[in-house]
Formats: sequence, C-alpha cells, structure tokens
Amino acid sequence: MKRALVIGAGGQVGTELVAALRGLYGQENVLATDLRRQAAAGLGGPCAPLDCTDGEAVLAAMRRFRPDTVFHLAALLSVTGEARPQLAYRVNLGGLVNVLEAARTEGPAIFFASTIASFGPSIPLDLVPQDAAQRPTTMYGITKAAGEMICDYYHLRFGVDTRGLRFPGLISHMAEPGGGTTDYAVEAIRGAVAHGAYTCPLRADTQLDMMYMPDAIRAAVELMQADPSRLTHRNAFNVTAMQFTPRSLAKEITRHLPHFRMDYRVDPLRQSIADSWPRRIDDSVAREEWGWTEKYDLAAMTADMIASLRRPKSASAAFPTSV
Ligand code: SER
Repeated sequence: MKRALVIGAGGQVGTELVAALRGLYGQENVLATDLRRQAAAGLGGPCAPLDCTDGEAVLAAMRRFRPDTVFHLAALLSVTGEARPQLAYRVNLGGLVNVLEAARTEGPAIFFASTIASFGPSIPLDLVPQDAAQRPTTMYGITKAAGEMICDYYHLRFGVDTRGLRFPGLISHMAEPGGGTTDYAVEAIRGAVAHGAYTCPLRADTQLDMMYMPDAIRAAVELMQADPSRLTHRNAFNVTAMQFTPRSLAKEITRHLPHFRMDYRVDPLRQSIADSWPRRIDDSVAREEWGWTEKYDLAAMTADMIASLRRPKSASAAFPTSV
C-alpha cells in the first residue's frame, strides 16, 4: 500500500484512519473524501466531497487520485438504518457496488467494513465462528452480509483484491459515533467524564463484542498489508478485543470515577437489535491467517478513554460524524 483513498473519511473510523494512513504513507498520498465537504476538509491534507451513491463520481475520484487501496467506510449504522431502511440500502449496498465497479477497471484493493451485525439471532450467539450462517434481521446487517458476498464475488469473478473486517462496537474519543447500537459505550464514558452519570438504553446484562479504535485502525491496515497468499478467507474476518455489558462497563468506569452512576431506560429498538447480535465472536481465523491480535482490553481502553477525554479540547479535537 502506497496511496489510499478513504470514502466516508469524516466518520468515527475514517477520522482516525486518515490520520494513521497519513502518518504511514505521507499526507499527499491519502485522499479523504466524505459526503460532507467540511467533514473531509476538517482532517487537513488532500480532501474532496464524494457521494458513494454516485457511481460516476466514485469512478472519477479513483481515476483522478489513482489509489492502490480504497478504504470504503461510508454507511448508515444499525439504529439510523432502521429509521431509514431504503436509504441504508442505497448507501450501504449501492455505494459498495459503485466502489467495486470502479475498482474492477481501476485496479485498487478494497477494504470493506463489515460488522458483528451481519449475524442474526438464528444461530447460537456465544463464540460465533468465522463461517457461520448469516441471517441478520436489521437492514444494516442485511446490507453488510450481502456486501461481504458481493466483495467475495468481485474477487472471484473479476480478481479485485477485496478484504474486510467484521468490526465489533468501536469505542473512540476523537469523532463521535452516530446511529449505532453499540454507541452507548462511548456515550457512557463521555457521560461519566462530563457529569458523572449516564442513562443506558440497553439492559444491564446485554453483552456485546467491542474494540478500542487504535486496535480497529491497526486491524484494517494490517489486513490490507497482509500477504494475500496467506488469506483463505477475505470477506469478512471476525475480529474482537473485549466483551462487556453495560453493568461491567459501569463497574470499570467507577474504578476511575467512583461517583459515576449508570441508570437504565431501555429503548426497545436498540435492545432488540442488540439481542439479535453475537454475545461474542470467535476471531481465531483472523489470528491464524494474518496475525490479528488486540492490544486494549476493557481496563486499558477505559483508562485511555477517560484520560483522553479529560485532556483539554484542543488536544482531542472533536470532528463531526459521517453518514
Ligand atoms: N457499531 C455498529 C452499530 O452499533 C455495529 O457494527 O450499529
């Protein structure tokens, strides 16, 4: 990888991925694009507005910038996807097909961000293996499960170098997440630092897979750097770093902020989405095929999040979120 195009760069993942890629490959070799011009421009360096649902615009961006790798991150998450399922379909699946079609002629490798939401409630949800039946029940999950298959199709049929990760809930302090079910974890830590309290929309015992953003960024970069001859799987790899419930997260936060209080007002939509997702996925295939290993567990993530959020604003700038 020498030259990367990031689509959906102003979102929770893109904001930190662009910074990491620019550190590795140089500012001029990473083009940040987002539906909202300001979100991409706020990252500094080369940027452009880009709507992934516009196939011609996606092709033109690849022709102009000539990336060898494209990180396609633009998507509606689970809660927003249920509010606007038709839009989620157009952005998440239509946008992906536009990216793959452009890659077919222009040749870059494609990173696809999939999710634990690509699984559904019809399988045992503890230690879900890499190759499990995917019958998701949210529009977000449906578009991501189908997206994985389309990525594999473009690899098999047209030779496009597609690779993807099934991200768990991602926790970060730079750009706020938007519209996800796992966002509660970020909101809880932010609430704890800001005013010592948080009202959680999920039941106290709802266990989900999670990961701290530095691990997620490293996973995406390492996957795209991996020797393709070692990859039996491609779209998409289970990866996880920790599992916790709102109750165990609250307990960890109180080790740093003893007066923190979490109370609960369960949102039926979020709860039903969370109940349909794995309690834990098995990521041993990613460990075997390209050496995935996490650095942050619940304790390390919570300590780093709280320390980062306590730093003055200029040191941990807040960026707007993407679609
Ligand atoms: N973070 C996503 C969501 O909650 C899951 O991949 O929608």
